[in-house]
Amino acid sequence: MSLVIEGVDLFCGVGGLSYGLGAEGVRVVAGIDVDPACQYPYEANHEGAKFLLRDIATVNGEELNALWSPGVVRLLAGCAPCQPFSSYANTATVDKAKWRLLSEFARLVEESQPDLVTMENVPRLQQAQPFKNFLRALMRGGYQVAYAVVNAADYGTPQRRKRLVLVASRLGPVAVPEPTHKGAENWVTVRQAVGHLKKLKDGESCKSDPLHVASTLSELNRARIRASKPGGTWRDWPEQLVAACHQRESGKHSAGVYGRMEWYKPAPTMTTLCNGYGNGRFGHPEQDRAISLREAAIFQSFPEAYRFTRDGEAVSIKTVARLIGNAVPPKLGEAVARALHASVRASAGAVTAVGG
Ligand SMILES: C[S@@+](CC[C@H](N)C(=O)[O-])C[C@H]1O[C@@H](n2cnc3c(N)ncnc32)[C@H](O)[C@@H]1O
Repeated sequence: MSLVIEGVDLFCGVGGLSYGLGAEGVRVVAGIDVDPACQYPYEANHEGAKFLLRDIATVNGEELNALWSPGVVRLLAGCAPCQPFSSYANTATVDKAKWRLLSEFARLVEESQPDLVTMENVPRLQQAQPFKNFLRALMRGGYQVAYAVVNAADYGTPQRRKRLVLVASRLGPVAVPEPTHKGAENWVTVRQAVGHLKKLKDGESCKSDPLHVASTLSELNRARIRASKPGGTWRDWPEQLVAACHQRESGKHSAGVYGRMEWYKPAPTMTTLCNGYGNGRFGHPEQDRAISLREAAIFQSFPEAYRFTRDGEAVSIKTVARLIGNAVPPKLGEAVARALHASVRASAGAVTAVGG
């Protein structure tokens, strides 16, 4: 039995998951995504992988089967986004509309019957009916399945990020990846991750790395960040700086915005708005600015040389922040690849032992 794993990455984005899988020996042959902004980063960082600009709903199993080489162990990977939805009456209908793309993923598993499947998603998916349907589709297909909510910080990502990770195999037993950095004392800190980067002011970008660019702050937000302490909240500010919405009783609990990170802890969860000081705890620990896009990418465990824009191209902070915030941390992808390799090796050993 072949031990070579080839992967197709559905909803590949800029390729965080693909990059991690590739770093641990999975040959990723294609990524599929509907967003044209993902094409350059995906192709620039994944030599040998095709980027298919497609809506997953229009892809079929036959097309996927044509992407894998004959005789390899075939992996279908993906991180389906939830879809915006509006006016449905009950939770089940809302869930169905919201997670429509997860059922497209399940359809592609049924149509292409890969040997291995992996998916990553937000923890709350675990309670939703579409996830239960996804599990049923895997069971019907004869897969052994393992899943758990894990913290990316336990896998060497300098960020607290809880995610649901699922691995499945038709070849034999499979287990959720083992943590490599288990527990707070082993987590990679903000200081270790970005402490060496060039100092920046808000609105400034680094000449040698255009991605090391920080959003411009208003005069009010400059005054606010100067008054902010690492790990603190807007409650540390003098009253005249506190936003009207926070002064009202209803706003007094939202302490998670306008915060500075702490040097000796991992970063908070990167979101699609992680470039904005007012959008979370995205203030730099000591410079008076929000984190730069490069810092955000490093907090997602992308290598420092990962390319998101063409040379000479103007960087759209909003677009790149969205792509970075949406990504699966490559370090989590590496851990998944190790778990899949271990499962494939064990299954191949079992086949050899039975066959003599
Ligand atoms: C959570 S992100 C995936 C991130 C990616 N796995 C990574 O590691 O960088 C979800 C992606 O699904 C893509 N997407 C949304 N709807 C889609 C569709 N109908 N077909 C294909 N891709 C879609 C989005 O453009 C986005 O890049």
